[in-house]
Amino acid sequence: MSNLTRSPAWQALTAHHAAISKQTMRGMFAADPARFDKFSLQLDGLLLDYSKNVASEETLRLLLSLVRQSKLDDWITRMFNGDKINTTEQRAVLHTALRAPHGASVYTDGKDVVPDVLRVRDHMRRFCGAVRDGSLRGHTGKPLRDVVNIGIGGSSLGPQMISEALKPYASTQLNAHFVSNVDATDLIETLRPLDPETTLFIISSKTFTTQETLTNARSARTWLVNHLGSEDAVAKHFAAVSTNLAETSKFGINPDNVFEFWDWVGGRYSVWSAIGLPIALYIGMDNFERLLAGGHAMDQHFRETPFEKNMPVILGLLGIWYANFFDAASYAILPYDQYLQHFPAYLQQLEMESNGKRVDRDGHDVDYATHMVVWGEPGTNGQHSFYQLIHQGTRMVPADFLAPITSHNPLGEHHAMLLANCFAQTEALMLGKTEEEARAELVAQGLSGEALETLLPYKVFPGNRPSNTLLFDRLDPYTMGMLVALYEHKVFVQSVVWNINAFDQWGVEFGKQLAGKLLPELQGKQDASSHDASTNGLIKRFLAH
Ligand code: F6P
Repeated sequence: MSNLTRSPAWQALTAHHAAISKQTMRGMFAADPARFDKFSLQLDGLLLDYSKNVASEETLRLLLSLVRQSKLDDWITRMFNGDKINTTEQRAVLHTALRAPHGASVYTDGKDVVPDVLRVRDHMRRFCGAVRDGSLRGHTGKPLRDVVNIGIGGSSLGPQMISEALKPYASTQLNAHFVSNVDATDLIETLRPLDPETTLFIISSKTFTTQETLTNARSARTWLVNHLGSEDAVAKHFAAVSTNLAETSKFGINPDNVFEFWDWVGGRYSVWSAIGLPIALYIGMDNFERLLAGGHAMDQHFRETPFEKNMPVILGLLGIWYANFFDAASYAILPYDQYLQHFPAYLQQLEMESNGKRVDRDGHDVDYATHMVVWGEPGTNGQHSFYQLIHQGTRMVPADFLAPITSHNPLGEHHAMLLANCFAQTEALMLGKTEEEARAELVAQGLSGEALETLLPYKVFPGNRPSNTLLFDRLDPYTMGMLVALYEHKVFVQSVVWNINAFDQWGVEFGKQLAGKLLPELQGKQDASSHDASTNGLIKRFLAH
């Protein structure tokens, strides 16, 4: 048994789980009218209501002892101080320094990184200003109107999600596009309607060696040169964001259009760096800096707030409660805001690439569950798709509901209906519907006898299904920054309790490695028979076609 599962805090939670499983949230709300006040937190217009959880004050006390036992406070200090807590890559983890305000200092390897952060931020401001005011023009002298970001994973998901989320703040003169898949359909369908004379490509890649990104970048370059008739056009229509300046130079990017970031920024934590350039171009640098300010506000909250009132700590512990003590296999992100439609996909990488691990910091296989599968779709769409399972399936699926109090698009009753659905779903999940209640409803509908008895079992809802609700004044850049940083720190809290490194990603290497061997075989350059019968059969069928 690992130290974690042998620990007093863990053992106490196991015992507590047995006890609390006999209670219901209905009962908890009935017993304590102040439950909402006790189990909610606020920060700068962001409300976290975590009262609809299968948790009592005793539960939270025990969960907090787990966090204390894991020495979270030391880990927080180490992260913010630039210690190399990404131990397998011997790197610091300082995405928080990217949103540090002017005047801050953050050291790693004996160097204050903030001056470099501010230098690149200033370069971003100048570049965005020039593109947006039309003083920076394309090869044929036209202003740039379409920005195409070519990147994947952390070099695309964050910029795409936030550009979509903050569309109300976007320029009407610029369109943002995101190409990530090596499937040429992604690039071709994106470029189809675009005019090369007014298109700016941003090649975003921390390593600048990612196969999909470089393949798309080369094809985009060919598209541009073929249309504009000269290699000289590349310097005017390409920018790059990377830690690998040698490779950006080799690709032929004009050094004035290269924006660097550093190894102490993890890919899935990089949206705050120049990886956010597409966002800054789209919504303007002032709004981008509001995003950074929101992230910084959450950093301060995380560092300074006692754990029992600390949003990332509470969210992180509730996730552990369900993953490790209720064996929940997945949890859902359900944004009741169409602008957050990409938020579930963004969190999939942030959470599952960070904590989808099975070997702990000491190199031992864990004997407990780590991250749940993260998934989700905007409400109310999900209600017409998978809510049947969430309400009446055999699995508990904890869910985070997110909603704005104020809509950017007020229209009649739409927003009231959206929020009514959001609140009603969390209420229904919590309450459930007893057999007696279901029976009474069917009687009231005029059913009786066998017809009623036959239908009755299907109308019962188990309830006691947990949810958190994040309710914010408006989806603005500052709030978006708080939300992203909230989940970043939640993931960190869980990694500390699970004693895993949230900041490496060795699991993505093996597939890439095998793909490198398969490519020449699919191109007919090498004999394909060294694989298993399935892979050989698939290659053979492809080649025969
Ligand atoms: O998925 C593996 C990964 O390395 C991610 O961590 C990263 O965000 C993505 O690929 C893209 O990497 P790069 O920014 O180096 O192209």
